[in-house]
Amino acid sequence: MRPVTIAVVGAGHRGAEAYADYCLRHPDEVQVVAVAEPDDGRRAALVAAHGIAADRAYSGWEDLLAADRIADAVVVATPDRLRTGPLLAAARRGYAILVEKPVATSPAELEEIVRAVGEADVPVGVAHVLRYTAFFRHLKELLDEGAVGRVVHLEQTEDPGYWHFVHSYVRGSWRRADTSSPLLLAKACHDLDVITWLLGAEPATVYSTGALTQFRPENAPEGAPERCTDGCPAADACPFHAPRFYVERLRDHHAWPVTAITGDTSAEARLRALREGPYGRCVYRCDNDAVDHQVVALTYAAGVTATLRVGAFTEANTRTVRILGSHGEIEGRLDTGEVTLRRFLPRRGAELGGAPRWDRDAEGRSGLPDDDVVTVVTAPVDDVDLLVEPGRRESDGHAGGDDGLMREFVATVRDRRVRPGVRVPTHLADAAVSHRIAFAAERSRSTGEVVHL
Ligand SMILES: NC(=O)c1ccc[n+]([C@@H]2O[C@H](COP(=O)([O-])OP(=O)(O)OC[C@H]3O[C@@H](n4cnc5c(N)ncnc54)[C@H](O)[C@@H]3O)[C@@H](O)[C@H]2O)c1
Repeated sequence: MRPVTIAVVGAGHRGAEAYADYCLRHPDEVQVVAVAEPDDGRRAALVAAHGIAADRAYSGWEDLLAADRIADAVVVATPDRLRTGPLLAAARRGYAILVEKPVATSPAELEEIVRAVGEADVPVGVAHVLRYTAFFRHLKELLDEGAVGRVVHLEQTEDPGYWHFVHSYVRGSWRRADTSSPLLLAKACHDLDVITWLLGAEPATVYSTGALTQFRPENAPEGAPERCTDGCPAADACPFHAPRFYVERLRDHHAWPVTAITGDTSAEARLRALREGPYGRCVYRCDNDAVDHQVVALTYAAGVTATLRVGAFTEANTRTVRILGSHGEIEGRLDTGEVTLRRFLPRRGAELGGAPRWDRDAEGRSGLPDDDVVTVVTAPVDDVDLLVEPGRRESDGHAGGDDGLMREFVATVRDRRVRPGVRVPTHLADAAVSHRIAFAAERSRSTGEVVHL
């Protein structure tokens, strides 16, 4: 079967480095045949890398989507606040669509999109990449086979790491809710999606609290200037000193996050970008309002609960999950890929109908026999070593989730040629749930009240 063809709308970090990059590595599955991108350098780079015809390179989504359909699918990877226009225009043209999250930045916009996409009757998948990681798939399999009995509580943490946090949510594009979206929607709607998917249910109530405590002017070191490059007296004592991170530690790294600050990744260009652009600003003197830590508490039917914590103050860039059930518990950490299942009853004994064996294990740990504590390493993530070995990996890839999502999306678009009804992953109707929870949580955070969904 001929490869699926796609048009990339927004050739930034996600459009170029996640989705179009997949096409370069899998040309027999999918090819990029058109691009819409206002930045001349980014557009030219994509045209060159994919051999896109000159008349299929547009400077904005309006021109690309004004023309008749020129590809099987459109990937919409524009900034948060530029979603409805290209998404609905692509839907009207009859494209299959893969759209970045957040799908919308307000409840009204979300419902308008859900309604219009329903009327256009086109397949729309949302880039909730965590569902396509080996790590979360393993957790889902364990829950579905009843490994911990009845789930009573799930707790998840999402810690992008201190450097990623200040890059995106203090200095970068997601620092203000009014120009992008609140932290929970921008960063953690993935977590709300995966919690919903793992539990297989929608919550009944949402409560949230959180604040911006650290990255505020009153916490600036004495004498700190507007920019790190202006001779800051606190440079050596500040974990967020920009030249140390972008110029020294990432010296041999030439992809995101460096490409977010400058297309030319030479040391001189990086320094120039820090002197002139947003990423050289003192983290205590930015126009940011994104909270630097937030907690969400969810309740489900029959008293099942879940919590999510997201924040700035960790060294590692990772997610952790604990799932507590009537007959066991699961603990997992995304960056190491490790998932440990601890059963409360010895499985072998239970299966054989024998008495439980409360021995010590080979290492002398008290507790259950070995086969009742099972650790599986699903897929360790090299990218968290970014700061240890800069340049070893090209991009973060979300623990394999980016590739997994593209593989399934492309396969579904191809399948639809012969089986038109096949549902794309993760369907808009499913993704809308995570967004509604995020909007409710933000309402709760600002009012202090529990929101009933
Ligand atoms: N799924 C995930 O895990 C994930 C991860 C990071 C970012 N995102 C989301 O992906 C989206 C893009 O993020 P990014 O980091 O790639 O941002 P980016 O700024 O690097 O890329 C956005 C691109 O859209 C382009 N653009 C602006 N106006 C346009 C127009 N009229 N027509 C076409 N293109 C236009 C910009 O020039 C830019 O190149 C954001 O909404 C972000 O929240 C999702």
